[in-house]
Amino acid sequence: MSQSAGQAPPPPHADPQAQAWQAVLDAARLAEPLAAAAAPGAFALGPQGTLDAVPAQHPDVALLWIPERGWALRLGDGDPRRPLIELYLPICSATRAHRVTVGHLGQSLDGFIATHTGDSQFVTGHENILHLHRMRALSDAVIVGAGTVAADDPRLTTRHVPGPNPLRVVLDPGRRLTDTYGLFRDTSARTLYLCAKHLAGHDERIGTALVEGVEGDESGLDVARVLDLLWDRGCTRIFVEGGGVTVSAFLEADLLDRLQVAIASLIIGSGRPAIRLPAQPVLGDCRRPRYRVFRMGGDVLFDCELRASAEAPLAGAPVARII
Ligand SMILES: NC(=O)c1ccc[n+]([C@@H]2O[C@H](COP(=O)([O-])OP(=O)(O)OC[C@H]3O[C@@H](n4cnc5c(N)ncnc54)[C@H](OP(=O)(O)O)[C@@H]3O)[C@@H](O)[C@H]2O)c1
Repeated sequence: MSQSAGQAPPPPHADPQAQAWQAVLDAARLAEPLAAAAAPGAFALGPQGTLDAVPAQHPDVALLWIPERGWALRLGDGDPRRPLIELYLPICSATRAHRVTVGHLGQSLDGFIATHTGDSQFVTGHENILHLHRMRALSDAVIVGAGTVAADDPRLTTRHVPGPNPLRVVLDPGRRLTDTYGLFRDTSARTLYLCAKHLAGHDERIGTALVEGVEGDESGLDVARVLDLLWDRGCTRIFVEGGGVTVSAFLEADLLDRLQVAIASLIIGSGRPAIRLPAQPVLGDCRRPRYRVFRMGGDVLFDCELRASAEAPLAGAPVARII
């Protein structure tokens, strides 16, 4: 795509990354009202990256809203703001009628997310950590498994980027975690703690987190019911941040719209695995999703489309350094 005639380049004093991120936040916020209006919209980027409505023929149109399809990018190929907006735009297009669930793992070259002791700090670099914070900021809810809380006690906030904190959701089917973790003490965001139904009391809390029971048993919750519960609470964009057991459960149930795998040049040898699914005897039955590739510092992010009709790599998939 080439830059429209007369399209203004970013002002020289503005940080393109900050501008791009502001445009992404605005695009996510505007999706629902635009979908409700059921009319196309055209937007230029303000000096700080804010989306300003303009006529469709305006020379500075940077983003278009297309009813039933979502956002389309009209920035030129050489525009430094383009790669970052491009990465997040499919997530910004989500609405209540077209919800999105994204899984992410940061793994070694040999497919591990931590050592056998659970040491995972850090498999991927700073730029991928920033990406995680951006994904949280775009999401209504971020889900992690009990193993991740036990190993990392993450805060799951957006402290490294501007943007709102999501609802934090911990899946602990067997109710093994105690209330001693910082995640259950921190009040910077709301936390929901989900365990097997028979282990949840009525109107109960673990620290500041609300306890709710979900169908399933102590070896695993029914992840489709987890999504139902979050959708009922108005969550449209859901981010499954790890670990491998949890992302694999959503993938196996075919509940992920996108799978993001950040690969670090690291060889762990043996440890906590990334994706693990039931064995497939025939390679032809294994999924080969379409993908885009983004460079993030020293890591490479595969952003896979699991709902694409054509399960084949995009020819000449774009490689874009975003940070
Ligand atoms: N690189 C990344 O992208 C990334 C992201 C998140 C986490 N991590 C790392 O991945 C590891 C966690 O991932 P995972 O796949 O093992 O698990 P997970 O998906 O986070 O959690 C799933 C299961 O962990 C089990 N579990 C293991 N130890 C536990 C404990 N001490 N207390 C409570 N439950 C526990 C529970 O199953 P049972 O009750 O059946 O044992 C739970 O259902 C950690 O080392 C974390 O640091 C890496």
